[in-house]
Formats: sequence, C-alpha cells, structure tokens
Amino acid sequence: MSDDLSFADYESRLDRSIKAKSPDFFSGDRLRHLIFSGQFTRPLLDKLCRLADKIRLLAKSKEGHRFLNTLLSHKRAMLYFTQPSTRTFMSFAAACQILGMTCNEVRDLSVSSEAKGESPFDSIRMFSSYFDLIIMRSHIPKFAECCGYMMNTLADSQRRSVPIINAGAGSDEHPTQALLDIYTIQRAFSFTDPKDSRQWTRYDELRQQFPGLRKGIAGKTIGFCGDIRRGRTVRSLAQLLALHEQVRLVFISPPHPALALPRDMKDKLIDAKVDIRECHSLEDQLDGKPVIEQFDALYMTRIQREHNSGTEEQELNELDYSHFKLTKSLVARMKPYAAILHPFPRDKEFGEIPPSIDEDERAFYFRQARNGMWARAALVAHIFDVDGEINDYYEQYNSEMQISPQ
Ligand code: NCD
Repeated sequence: MSDDLSFADYESRLDRSIKAKSPDFFSGDRLRHLIFSGQFTRPLLDKLCRLADKIRLLAKSKEGHRFLNTLLSHKRAMLYFTQPSTRTFMSFAAACQILGMTCNEVRDLSVSSEAKGESPFDSIRMFSSYFDLIIMRSHIPKFAECCGYMMNTLADSQRRSVPIINAGAGSDEHPTQALLDIYTIQRAFSFTDPKDSRQWTRYDELRQQFPGLRKGIAGKTIGFCGDIRRGRTVRSLAQLLALHEQVRLVFISPPHPALALPRDMKDKLIDAKVDIRECHSLEDQLDGKPVIEQFDALYMTRIQREHNSGTEEQELNELDYSHFKLTKSLVARMKPYAAILHPFPRDKEFGEIPPSIDEDERAFYFRQARNGMWARAALVAHIFDVDGEINDYYEQYNSEMQISPQ
C-alpha cells in the first residue's frame, strides 16, 4: 500500500470483507461503481448479459446503431490507464462510443501532472470535474476502490461525483474481463448456429452424441490452464462461475506456489460449494479419464513472467512448461463443442495457444475479445440507467424486424 496520506484515510474501509463493502458501490440495485467481481450477483450478471445481447443485435443495423448513439451523447468518459492494455482500453473506448459518449485518455503519467508531484487522488478528482465516468487501470493496488470511496464522500457532501469502473487492478481483480468471459461462455453454451432451422439445430445434433447436454453454464466442466495464481482474470472469472449450479473447475498449472491455485482462492471456491480439482498437465487423467476430453470450456492463460521475483526467477525458468500449451493434437481430443478461451495477450514466444489453432471452430478468443465491447457497453448503459430505454426499443424493433438472438 502506498504511504500516501490519502490511502490511510480509507484503511478501515479497505480492510472489510467484500460482502461488507459491496453496498458502498451500489445505488439501490444498480451498480454505482464496479470495483470487484464479488459485486455481481447471478440476477445482475444475467441481466447484463441479456442487455449485451440486445446492444449487439441492435448495433447490426444503421438504425439501431443510431438509436444507441443517442443514449449517452451528453456524457463524457475518461480512460485513465497507467498500466499496459490493448483490448480492455480499446473495447471500453468502443463501448462508450457505441453509446454516443466522447472519450479522453491518460495512458502515460510522464505527460500528466503526476510527473510534477500531483497525487493520483487529485488527478482523479480533476477528471471528475471534466468527465462523467472514470474507467481506470492503475498500477497502485486498491486505487480504484479508494477512488470509489472518494467519490461517495464527495456525493455525501453534495459535491460532484462520478462512477468509477475498475478495468483491472493489481493481481486480484478484473471484474469487466470476468463479465465478458461469462457472456462469452453463456453464448458458447447456447449451442446456437446461424444455420439453425425448424428441421435442424446444432443443439439437437450435439445431443445425439451427448444426450445429457444442457444449455447454459450449470453443470459444466471448465478448465483453467497456465498461470493460475497471478492471473487476475482467472480469479475474477472463477468467482462468477461459482455463482452457477454444479460447475466443476479444473486448475492446471505447474506445481509451484508462485503459479498454482492459491489457498485463499481455493477456500473461497470450496465455501461456494464448487467442485474443484487440480492437475499438473493437460495430459493428466481425472477420475480415470483424460482431462482434455472432459472440458466444456478451457481457459488458457499466459505465464506472467513480468511478475517473477528475483529469488524465484531461476526456479521458474527451470520448470517444464510443455504440459501447459495447447497443440492441434490436444484440441483434436476435445469435445466438438468445447470453447477455447484466452483473455489475451497470448505470449508468442511461450506459445500457450499456437496460431495454427485459430481457425478451429472451438477457438473462441477473438470472439471473446469482441464480446468485451458488448459486455462493457451493457455495463456502462446499466450504470447510467439507460437499460430500460434499450429494452423498450429492442422490443419494438424486434417485433417490427423479427430479429432473434444468434
Ligand atoms: C489480462 C490482464 O491484463 O489481466 N489481459 C486483459 O485484460 N485482457 C491478462 C494478461 O495480462 O495476461
């Protein structure tokens, strides 16, 4: 934690459980700030995913796009990203633009007044003078959370206050990535196909081979492979999967404490009654069957070498990582409908997913990145309370145009 005085002001609030903190970031049942994945409930997640679907379908037509564009044309967003980001930054900018918002950005502190000694809290408060939403990825742990408290204090004293969205903080939270991952997995497990017709559906065809196959996330086996401990996307997504009935989560990582499933995360998932398993290779057997053949979805991650500490560097470099990379022959053994996901960036030198897999229909990672734009647009629309307008317009549009979710 920074020794900046302002952080000390928030210490007692930072030390509480997520359950105790969560109400601070809501206004009624609407998100006011999004700081943690733990703020999502199942009904809220499902609502945001349905909204993302409607935005996605409306944006297909010029007319629908024009409607979406009017919704927040009176609002401005600041993207304060002082840590590297490509997809999160771009998809948030695109999401805001879809809703008609204008965006501005700070990505390089050397050109901001922080280079002259300004406190990051002052920067954020200044942004709130010019903008209506602050989307942030900061190198300072728990900074987004503190900014949420700062905004609440301002609102309590009738001063200007704007919503804060955490776009990835430290090693433990990436709530909007988890939202888009859930949206992608839901879409994958809807088993729809553009060629679906009255005579044939992909779902019916799959059920001939897998009679017990159900639509939706409940009851599915989802693997996470690679850097489990340091991947904030894994931590955030696992929490949201735990909100679904009878999911089985399989964590595949080298048996090194810097990379394997950490105790606190394991305990949380056990508390949530999730069936969790750990393996040390994609070639392992689980309950007498090859694990690779059991996944309904497989979430690959890169090894986050930038976090290697001096003392563990050599040990980590000496590990055999060959069991944590997908190959075409491993993919050939996966279920025909299994979804391969990756938050990206993938590591081109390490090669956890070689580009030769990209054209396989089970490779979902590019669609996953695009879904980030729809899921983030849904989140912003929800925060600004324009989801009702979208729902109404969609109903009317749907009855006129007969569009159906694909
Ligand atoms: C991830 C992140 O920043 O946590 N990327 C992303 O937001 N899509 C994953 C990573 O850096 O490996």
